[in-house]
Amino acid sequence: MDKLKIKGGNKLAGQIYISGAKNAALPLICASLLTRERVTLTNMPLLSDIRSMNLLLEQLGTKIDSHDEVIDGNPCKVYSYQTAQPASLVAPYDYVRKMRASYYVLGPLLAREHYVELSLPGGCAIGARPMDIHLSALEQMGASIEIKNGYVIAKAEHGLQGAHLIFNIASVGATCNILMAATLARGTTVIENAAMEPEIGNLAEMLNAMGAKISGINTPILTIEGVKELHGVIHKVIPDRIEAGSYAVAAAITRGKIELINAQAATLQTPLKILAETGVRISEKPHGIIIDAENCVLEGKDIMTDYYPGFPTDLQAQFLTLMLTADGASMVTETIFENRFMHVPELLRMGANINVHGHASAIVRSVPKLYGAQVMATDLRASFALVLAGLVAEGETVVNRVYHLDRGYEKLEHKLRSVGADIVRIKDDQED
Ligand code: UD1
Repeated sequence: MDKLKIKGGNKLAGQIYISGAKNAALPLICASLLTRERVTLTNMPLLSDIRSMNLLLEQLGTKIDSHDEVIDGNPCKVYSYQTAQPASLVAPYDYVRKMRASYYVLGPLLAREHYVELSLPGGCAIGARPMDIHLSALEQMGASIEIKNGYVIAKAEHGLQGAHLIFNIASVGATCNILMAATLARGTTVIENAAMEPEIGNLAEMLNAMGAKISGINTPILTIEGVKELHGVIHKVIPDRIEAGSYAVAAAITRGKIELINAQAATLQTPLKILAETGVRISEKPHGIIIDAENCVLEGKDIMTDYYPGFPTDLQAQFLTLMLTADGASMVTETIFENRFMHVPELLRMGANINVHGHASAIVRSVPKLYGAQVMATDLRASFALVLAGLVAEGETVVNRVYHLDRGYEKLEHKLRSVGADIVRIKDDQED
């Protein structure tokens, strides 16, 4: 398995292009299953999660082609998906095991083909992550759901029927899945307490461009009038707000200055507000955001994760790491997932001062220095937190299990090197 070797201490300065959002791209790919026609997605990030999703769709009978393009100055991939007729209605264990988001095939296939078998995703490093909201909503829309041999078997013999749904949690995954399913259901579906993450707005806009009738986009109440069929589309993936937020912290923690090209400040209001409160200078530009922490003395601030537009859980590990270098103490509270402080024991090995209370909160105290170490993380965002710690640690840090990072950060070491970081990838077969 590849590793990243980082020599800490360099102040980062320059520009970083923000890629298309992984969490927008994954449901958009699955939405292509709703039509026989061709769906083209531009500004796609080059990530292993996208490759995993493509493999699953190919297995379901989707024809995929791709080419390179430069969009807004950033080289990226354009993928086209066409599923004239699904070859299989089974999402097998090996695909779902590798990537939970494989469950996004459930809504589209059930709506279009009235049948689907999906390996039930298990828990993961950050918590149990059940699918009860997705399944209960589909049942309320007339589907029969059976769990057998680790698979969800969902049938809707006469198609799905619109329903008035009230989600007990504003789940991102359930909102995307049910939104897609409802586009081809008979009658009207209302989703109350829908998640409002920008990736859902990106999906709803693409579905409308395909002929769906969705109103209430970017609000907690989505209304979907079912249509008979959807057609092809060309659609652009929004910039990745979590990638942008992660590199914003890279600028702040090294007391550097980075322009995040293509980043959208509107999707990062809460994390940018906290950064500004710590003392970082932030300026919005027409095509990005400048994060300037040069000569700043940062002050620790409290963070509590929440549903959008609250502070994203996917930036918690990175901001927690930043607080180690800010004066005073910060209280970090995680409210979305029950096991999301897995980065803390690794940070402690680098000299951090963090006290975790139960599963939900941590007190982070300023330390004069972090020290390089061999570390490994159990999930994607926690891995980035360790990279951030490595960027400021004295000496050398080796981050193991880089495959986590490859799932969600396109060309991570290239982007960081381009702003002055001393970071190299050590290939599995390469002598260190
Ligand atoms: C998505 C993101 C992930 C992000 C998360 C929260 C993708 C591919 N992943 O994950 O990066 O961290 O949103 O912003 O977009 N829950 C239930 N029952 C359900 C569904 C969810 O109890 O049926 C719970 C989960 O266990 C969790 C909370 O609801 O505690 C939020 O989960 P959800 O918003 O569904 O996250 P994901 O869609 O899995």
